[in-house]
Amino acid sequence: MPIRIADAVTEAAPQGAKRLFVKSYGCQMNVYDGIRLADLMKPHGYALVEEVEGADLVVLNTCHIREKADDKLFSDLGRFKKAAPQAILAVGGCTGQALGAKIFQQESAVKIVFGPQTIQRLPTLLEKALRGQRAIDTDFPELEKFDRLPTPGAYGASAFVTIQEGCDKFCTYCVVPYTRGAEISRPHGDIVAEVQALAAQGVKEITLLGQNVNAYQHEGVGLATLCQLVGAVPGIARVRFTTSHPNNTTPDLIAAFAPVEQGGNPKLMPYFHLPVQAGSDTVLARMNRNHTVASYLETIAAVRAVRPDVAISGDFIVGFPGETEEEFQQTLAVAAHVGYVGAYSFAYSPRPGTPAAELPDQVDEVTKKTRLAALQAVLDAGTAAFCERFVGQTLEVLVEGPAKDAGQLRGRSPHNLPVNFTYGAADPVALVGQLVPVTIRRSTQRSLVGKME
Ligand code: 5AD
Ligand code: SF4
Repeated sequence: MPIRIADAVTEAAPQGAKRLFVKSYGCQMNVYDGIRLADLMKPHGYALVEEVEGADLVVLNTCHIREKADDKLFSDLGRFKKAAPQAILAVGGCTGQALGAKIFQQESAVKIVFGPQTIQRLPTLLEKALRGQRAIDTDFPELEKFDRLPTPGAYGASAFVTIQEGCDKFCTYCVVPYTRGAEISRPHGDIVAEVQALAAQGVKEITLLGQNVNAYQHEGVGLATLCQLVGAVPGIARVRFTTSHPNNTTPDLIAAFAPVEQGGNPKLMPYFHLPVQAGSDTVLARMNRNHTVASYLETIAAVRAVRPDVAISGDFIVGFPGETEEEFQQTLAVAAHVGYVGAYSFAYSPRPGTPAAELPDQVDEVTKKTRLAALQAVLDAGTAAFCERFVGQTLEVLVEGPAKDAGQLRGRSPHNLPVNFTYGAADPVALVGQLVPVTIRRSTQRSLVGKME
């Protein structure tokens, strides 16, 4: 998914505005929060800028999911305080939530700390910091964030909307239940209103976001119904959602992927991100996933039964504590069997405060690296094979902007594959944000190349 923060810059920065630099790390929910942060600070006279140099306020919208993400935060802090010595430095996001006031001790230049559920309070925190005091707020005020933030500005033809936050599943490796709090769903009326506002600004594609997006539930409306409501908003042509949990994949959601003649949702795109994490039941049990490999594969088979061409994506963790070579081989077998369009795979990273960090038999880093490379090779082969099947087909592409190569535009296919294409004599500027037919001439490892019809 493209990050649209930079796009917002072009329409911002009026004369005399203070300069706000935001860096979002990690997941798409953080990207969404980053965009809303920029919208939030606009009425306070802050315009988003692309370069940290000369910024008045620098916000690091952080991720805590793996150790590497934390390391990046502290190296960036060192860099940013040099690049913008006069700026107020603020750490938001999941590391802000998890480490709280410890961040002030680790980096004294930081003046503000907040978490993912308190971004709406940044103006108050900033006032305090401008008075020379350290300001911190890591509360979990349910839904206040969504009530207090302004209607989002749209920065392209495709937009994210967070519909559900937090997680009650407590997988033993994961910090999310601690950093984003308990599962909560936003009222469906608020979500539809937000989508209407985005559609009025030209947005055609909505990606509904949640840590457990398919656990969405508000006043009897589940995710399948919400996808219908969102798809029915005039102007919305495509609906996607991410990230799902195998145990919340309900029959009505599976049925929504069917062709329209069979009662499916014609706006729902054929792409399903369903993490499995490991291909062995013993590892899944140690991870507290509460599902088996067989139940996961049954869910995938059920989706494919109604929509055979659906693109399946997923997440994997290798080197979970105690993972034997045999257990790892089972993960490889699942990856090969499913044939993912592209899955995210990670070496296990022990996170302080999570149960798995305390488990015996931690896997050494060399083994983790070797296993990760082996898994990635299997996943890459699946991606290339998935891309290849579209050669010769004409696909509807949502145009995002210019491609790297001159004379080409880039966009996304229904299966969410990046497509670069030539556009003949058409005006490229007029095509941005439109759905256009593109005939695919060849595929690369993870993208498609074609020609607009
Ligand atoms: N180590 C490695 N990967 C992790 N993930 C979550 N926690 C960890 C961890 N401690 C991965 C999972 C999850 C994705 C967002 O990040 O695969 O689905
Ligand atoms: Fe983390 Fe598991 Fe919740 Fe996903 S379902 S956010 S991996 S605890």
